[in-house]
Amino acid sequence: MSFSHLKPKVTTILANDRENKDQRLKEVCELLQSSIGYYDWVGFYFANEAEKTLHLKAFAGEPTDHTVIPFGKGICGQVAVSNSNFVVPDVKAQDNYIACSITVKAEIVIPLFKDGKNIGQIDIDSHMEDPFSEEDERFLEWVNEEVANIL
Ligand code: SME
Repeated sequence: MSFSHLKPKVTTILANDRENKDQRLKEVCELLQSSIGYYDWVGFYFANEAEKTLHLKAFAGEPTDHTVIPFGKGICGQVAVSNSNFVVPDVKAQDNYIACSITVKAEIVIPLFKDGKNIGQIDIDSHMEDPFSEEDERFLEWVNEEVANIL
């Protein structure tokens, strides 16, 4: 998978100050979900530090019931406390996992840092088994850095 052709598109979307930040985040989700075959659901969650919860701010794909996730719960909630990438090749092998749909086979969650602080994350679900590589991690880390720059 080559991500290089997507980078200028992400940059253009995020630089578009005619749209508010939530709209730009949604467009980034839509771009990734429609361009990368195995990205079936793409969303950004952001942390409420006082409540210790994650809140879904923008997404592309099927609507999810899991718009608020407590820190520590599921893959997303674990990343809120670990500050580390979490690549799940097979969601069935995870005990602490929140199922959004039975069609999801794999997931990747990459924390989003602003001024060194873990303030949220990008979450991708895939209907393919074991689709994510280190290239996905590097690309999604780059996306999150670009997003952090407009926040
Ligand atoms: N599967 C996630 C929940 C969010 S949905 O994938 C949109 C988790 O275990 O945290």
